[in-house]
Amino acid sequence: MKLRLDRSACQGHGRCYALAPELFGCDEEGYSVLIAPGELTVDQQDAARRAVNNCPEFAITLDEE
Ligand code: F3S
Repeated sequence: MKLRLDRSACQGHGRCYALAPELFGCDEEGYSVLIAPGELTVDQQDAARRAVNNCPEFAITLDEE
């Protein structure tokens, strides 16, 4: 399972890096930066789902392949 971030959809709401700081950071303008682009550990998956479910712009998705 991997995270995908559509940076063109991000509006800087900041919920992702507040809820999952181990997975997301932010740039100097407050837009999200994915810091865990690889395969997620089991421990990271709950936080990843929280971020997906709380982004109001639907900028974050999970690739469950
Ligand atoms: Fe951007 Fe959504 Fe996070 S709008 S800052 S990806 S909560």
